[in-house]
Amino acid sequence: MQAEQLATMLREVRSRTLELVADLSDQQMIGPQLRIVNPPLWEIGHVAWFQERWALRHLRGLPPLREDADRLYDSAAVPHDTRWELWLPSRQDTLALMQAILDRTLNELGPDPLSPEEQYFHLLPILHEDMHDEALTYTRQTLGYAAPKVGTLTLPSPAAAGEGLPGDAEVPGGTFLLGAIPGADELVFDNEKWVHPVEIRPFRIARAAVTQAEFAAFVDDGGYGERRWWSKPGWSWRTDAGAEHPVYWQADGPGRWRRRVWDQWLPLEPHQPVVHVTWYEADAYCHWAGRRLPSEAEWEMAASAEPGETVLDAQMLTALSEHPQPGPLHLRERALVSPWRKRRYSWGDEPPTSERANLDWRGGGCLEVGALPAGDSYFGCRQMIGNVWEWCADPFWGYPGFVRDPYQEYSEPWFGDHKVLRGGTWTTRSRLIRNTWRNFYTPDRRDVWCGFRTCACD
Ligand SMILES: [Fe+2]
Repeated sequence: MQAEQLATMLREVRSRTLELVADLSDQQMIGPQLRIVNPPLWEIGHVAWFQERWALRHLRGLPPLREDADRLYDSAAVPHDTRWELWLPSRQDTLALMQAILDRTLNELGPDPLSPEEQYFHLLPILHEDMHDEALTYTRQTLGYAAPKVGTLTLPSPAAAGEGLPGDAEVPGGTFLLGAIPGADELVFDNEKWVHPVEIRPFRIARAAVTQAEFAAFVDDGGYGERRWWSKPGWSWRTDAGAEHPVYWQADGPGRWRRRVWDQWLPLEPHQPVVHVTWYEADAYCHWAGRRLPSEAEWEMAASAEPGETVLDAQMLTALSEHPQPGPLHLRERALVSPWRKRRYSWGDEPPTSERANLDWRGGGCLEVGALPAGDSYFGCRQMIGNVWEWCADPFWGYPGFVRDPYQEYSEPWFGDHKVLRGGTWTTRSRLIRNTWRNFYTPDRRDVWCGFRTCACD
């Protein structure tokens, strides 16, 4: 990667961050204290702090521009519930600080060729800012702010609009390489490392995510009141939260619902995916429907596998050598071979387009589950990349031989009590997402754009 490419991304991501808060009042920039959001004023300062921490302080040994930077913006050191009481710089001073850090980063960047470390520690803050931009967007939904005015929203073609996409895809299972292949991406986070073989039984997985209409049938059938559909922690969450239906839904007459989208109340969109549901609600729906959530390995196989071979050559094996690989992959002329080829995205290796995936705020929200057939996986699953994050059954753990990256707080502190989500949503950046990408949240989170698809219980 060249300096100019990184400079373009650094400027672009910062302009997106600023777009997402430009219309908010000073009061909205602080907002109410909630466990699931940050004060937007703190969050925009934090992304600049993170950029300075890695691209300037860590990589180049430069001192921070503000002596109190870590006391204000270090997310690992500043307890979440204290972020509303900090003496944060004013909005004007925060914006000036962000600009100064960006200017300094750009000035220090290059010349080409960049070392691998220079590339890594500039790309890392870009991807981190991408993630916070998604968080700023769902924060606006959580707090009932107006829809963000971001970029140019180019709506995809209305292919299959007005329809759901019923039915299952059949996946034959077998030995599958779960995880990222060394060398395939410029920056792979620690939780994706590395490919390792898993045995998957044949399974059937829904071609599309569960829709609002399908989920409404569960609600209308009294699903939230029937203990038998819920796991023990799920029932405990439901009763504590007083949940009788998805958050943001409101009864609008018998059998009719509407939901809050930003600061507006709209009728349900029956063929759009149900969204803003906890893992517990997804799991309860599955029990009611006689279905189950996919495992992470099943999800990744349904999204990425196609007939062919994955051959890990000697160079890749060297990268893997620090990570002991269990399992039955066979050695052939010093290479590991899997009977499935892995696509980078559900449709193949070509980059995302508006015909293939709803990413980058393009759709202005979720699209109907039948849209974008050009993005189908080999097995016929639709929208596995983009539109809505999908809960998987598994808790979030490191893969075999997990080793922490320099950004140590990214994955490991969250092992065990978080659940995995896959595929990205309409606000996820194209440069971030791929079939092997793992997101993770606690199972009670419903502020994120999280939905799910189901598997048959065979
Ligand atoms: Fe962060």
